[in-house]
Amino acid sequence: MKTKITELFGIEHPIIQGGMHHVGFAELAAAASNAGGLGTITGLTQGTPEKLANEIARCQEMTDKPFAVNLTFLPSLTPPDYPGLVQVIIDAGVPIVETAGRNPAEYLPALKEAGIKVIHKCTSVRHSLKAQSIGCDAVSVDGFECGGHPGEDDIPNFILLPRAADELEIPFVASGGMADARSLVAAMALGAEGINMGTRFIATQDAPVHQNVKDAIVNASELDTRLIMRSLTNTERVLNNDAVERLMEKEKALGDKLRFEDIVDEVAGVYPKIMHEGTMEVGAWSCGMVAGLVSDIPTVKDLIDSIMTEADSIINQRLSNF
Ligand SMILES: Cc1cc2nc3c(=O)[nH]c(=O)nc-3n(C[C@H](O)[C@H](O)[C@H](O)COP(=O)(O)O)c2cc1C
Repeated sequence: MKTKITELFGIEHPIIQGGMHHVGFAELAAAASNAGGLGTITGLTQGTPEKLANEIARCQEMTDKPFAVNLTFLPSLTPPDYPGLVQVIIDAGVPIVETAGRNPAEYLPALKEAGIKVIHKCTSVRHSLKAQSIGCDAVSVDGFECGGHPGEDDIPNFILLPRAADELEIPFVASGGMADARSLVAAMALGAEGINMGTRFIATQDAPVHQNVKDAIVNASELDTRLIMRSLTNTERVLNNDAVERLMEKEKALGDKLRFEDIVDEVAGVYPKIMHEGTMEVGAWSCGMVAGLVSDIPTVKDLIDSIMTEADSIINQRLSNF
């Protein structure tokens, strides 16, 4: 399938594996890229420029296809060495960067100068237009359904995607709630040029995370995610568990008085324990409503191949028979 996104990134299929903290390692990124999609290494999981350089080199050994690095800009008292991370990406010849979190304008000149394509992930039409105006090449439009940070507008993709299509000139992919061929065809019908998936890619054989994480997604329904940290204007969609219940009790009790320090035990530093040790109840971790559509753990290649084959039959049989 040729779309503006496959052309822009030089990939075969319009399917992107989005950056995911403690999930987006070289193994998963290379598997997604080798399968004809676009894999993404998560920059902040590596933390330092040296470690990121090492992870990029590992990925380059596993694939000769294009892959991306995700740079998530978070508010932090001790910010990561973003200029150093950007320099490593440039020096390693990474062709694509996925930015997220806040406006990446500060780093765009250096990235563009190096010929790097930038896709900015955001959750509203106004932020998408801002990304376009500062020179991003594409946008990943992340609807309210998404795992991770859906923003504060709560607009689901059935409204957000056609709104983005009405306003944007640069191409965009649909992100949040995407799982299969039906998602891809629907997203394209709504104006997207491809899809970005997070949760669905975790439940694959290639994702370098503990089996308990994959099983938790397979066993979850669409009713099992919760929104946390809304009163901190840092809303996150996570899979419900004991820690999330505890956290939500504190949110209920403290209301607007809640501070980050009150919930630090449930959210800070929990990813390595969950993703690598499989201690699932230790804290809150991002997961999309789309878990309700995930019932198997295929290889990334089988997942992407089946999406493309089934998309073809939806378009050429089901839809053309109406
Ligand atoms: C476990 C997990 C960790 C994530 N970490 C990040 C991250 O570090 N940076 C980022 O930009 N997005 C992150 N995301 C968001 C994904 O890249 C993607 O936008 C989102 O999962 C799409 O929604 P879906 O889960 O419904 O497919 C994360 C998502 C999950 C599920």
